[in-house]
Amino acid sequence: MKVLKVSDYASLSKKSATLIAAQIIRNPGSVLGLATGSTPEGVYAELIALNKQGLIDFAGVTTVNLDEYYGLPGEHPQSYDYFMRQKLFSHVNIAADCTHLPSGMATDAEKECRRYEQLIDRLGGIDLQLLGIGRNGHVGFNEPGKSFPPLTHLTDLTEDTLGANSRFFGPGEKVPTQAISMGIGTIMRARSVLLIASGPDKKWALDKTINGPVTPQVPASVLQYHPDVTVIYCD
Ligand code: F6R
Repeated sequence: MKVLKVSDYASLSKKSATLIAAQIIRNPGSVLGLATGSTPEGVYAELIALNKQGLIDFAGVTTVNLDEYYGLPGEHPQSYDYFMRQKLFSHVNIAADCTHLPSGMATDAEKECRRYEQLIDRLGGIDLQLLGIGRNGHVGFNEPGKSFPPLTHLTDLTEDTLGANSRFFGPGEKVPTQAISMGIGTIMRARSVLLIASGPDKKWALDKTINGPVTPQVPASVLQYHPDVTVIYCD
């Protein structure tokens, strides 16, 4: 695990975008695993800037997102589908049919999870997976538990995650309680992983992830077993 502490959120965003840009330049047909949440917003802004400057080309890139709320349609402003279009996809030259998320509206969630795993396999796997981390050490929506979920699955969100996510929903708006998420196994099969974290509320989770025992109680700790992980963080 390579761990890089940077001075502030701006350099976290710049450094992370540089690593992703390097991946795209090395392999213009890269499959990128992407995350939502507030942490990657700066990274996406930097990638848009690099694309506009002509330094990176998304024409051959395919993306697969980590997760999507179950029960939210793609047009809902809090859906991850909507987020990705707003924050990245509609600003760069990526083909819409090369951007993938689990469908939050699939009637048969299990079938949707199988479809998503097969899609990733068919794409040849993920070259670089970008991850944020929850205060409780979750990655994707793999919450602390008794085991590491191997595959994309439907999952209940914990109280902590519901609390953290409720800030994005309006007063009285119902926060979804389930999500479809890549499994820990899906994430571990990515050829490289870039984990980003910003702010003091991530300190506990980050310390356990880097220095703690590998345990499903801190899902991100499993990354200690991955051969190519970079962690970039700031206080
Ligand atoms: C988002 C995701 C989540 C977030 C995590 C951190 O696709 O899978 O695991 O990465 O909850 O969220 P922020 O960045 O908002 O602190």
